[in-house]
Amino acid sequence: MSWTATILTLFPDMFPGPLGQSLAGKALDAGSWHCDARDLRPFGLGRHNTVDDTPCGGGAGMVMRPDVVDAALAAVSRDDGAPCVYLTPRGRPLTQADIRRYATGPGVTLLCGRYEGVDERVLEARAIEQVSIGDYVLSGGETAALVLLDACVRLLPGVMGSAESGVEESFSDGLLEYPHYTRPAEWDGRAVPDVLLSGNHAAISRWRREQSERVTRERRPDLWAAHLSNTTRSSVQEG
Ligand code: ADE
Repeated sequence: MSWTATILTLFPDMFPGPLGQSLAGKALDAGSWHCDARDLRPFGLGRHNTVDDTPCGGGAGMVMRPDVVDAALAAVSRDDGAPCVYLTPRGRPLTQADIRRYATGPGVTLLCGRYEGVDERVLEARAIEQVSIGDYVLSGGETAALVLLDACVRLLPGVMGSAESGVEESFSDGLLEYPHYTRPAEWDGRAVPDVLLSGNHAAISRWRREQSERVTRERRPDLWAAHLSNTTRSSVQEG
């Protein structure tokens, strides 16, 4: 059985969406992964298949009921140990390490919330991982689920064109990637850095490393601090 994404959502037509195109779409057609989006609505209660209710304690919005979400999760439950992930701005930040872990397993079950979110009890009861794709609020978990899936699918065996482009990329060593250039050698009065045209592979590697470090230091002081403490720790261990 190939890598499978089971998605629980009120908007199953949003899947595979953009992932039906390009690299992910070709991999989907080739059977390298499966996208199984399931509608939460039929698990709703009463004549209107109600899935939500007002928040206990008051306040704006609606909360998805734990009994409804639990019944839906039970109906799609898998016996392959695939992790269940709830997309929420309250989750811990999704990282490339999470993506590698999901991509190397049998797949994922993704729970997409709408409204104010899902009743906390069902998340606790089923030990569901809660992850956020960034510090901004989307209108629902679906677009976040598409982001997570895109990042996983490109890592699946045989999906990415060149094996190397998966190794030397941003975050793989805790740094952002160096800048890229192609022809023409001069464009709009701007030249490609000389070293990249020198044919000196050692010098090119050195320049790329320096650029990675500079860009990370300037744009992502958080990643830079983590990188520094990791390299200090490993040089202490080696020494
Ligand atoms: N749902 C709404 N906003 C989200 C975010 N930033 N990350 C994950 N899921 C979300």
